Amino acid sequence: MRIVQVPGEGPENAAIMMIGEAPGFHEDRQGRPFVGAAGKYLEELLALIGMKRAEIYICNVIKCRPPQNRDPFPVEMDACRPYLDQQIDLIKPKVIITISRFAMTRWFPDAKISAIHGKPKKFGDLVVLPMYHPAAALHQPSLKRVLEEDFKRVPQILNEMANLKEEVVEKKRDEKPPQQLSLFG
Ligand code: URA
Repeated sequence: MRIVQVPGEGPENAAIMMIGEAPGFHEDRQGRPFVGAAGKYLEELLALIGMKRAEIYICNVIKCRPPQNRDPFPVEMDACRPYLDQQIDLIKPKVIITISRFAMTRWFPDAKISAIHGKPKKFGDLVVLPMYHPAAALHQPSLKRVLEEDFKRVPQILNEMANLKEEVVEKKRDEKPPQQLSLFG
């Protein structure tokens, strides 16, 4: 059995981190996340919002390919968790987009993706945005439009976050309370 780590890749100052499930066949071969069909579609989704894959940090909950691409076991998630924790600490993304249910449950333990996809939620300074997995949309074409609409919200979310930062700076200057954000749960 090959045991190749696929830790993740992207700029260390990336504003957006995407967290998938686990490496598949192609990722295992190349040591890079999302290089198969799902990765190609992910690049198309990013292009929709004028972004390139090289601008975001991409990683997975699980750092090695589970045999036959089975779902990760809890013991594997526990073993990989310190690596993901460190990646989040080092990159300090403004937005984490979870693109797998295993990533989503960390912030939304009891939620269903059908209920919360595309809805950003603040956790301190971090915004977490749950989305369907690109591979799910490839298998179920009706999800493609949903995923594409969710992706189109990303620039708006980044803008709102930038505005909030400006308001906080202004508040410090004027001592006026900042406006309540409309987008975030
Ligand atoms: N699916 C994932 O969740 N991660 C990858 O790296 C590739 C496919």
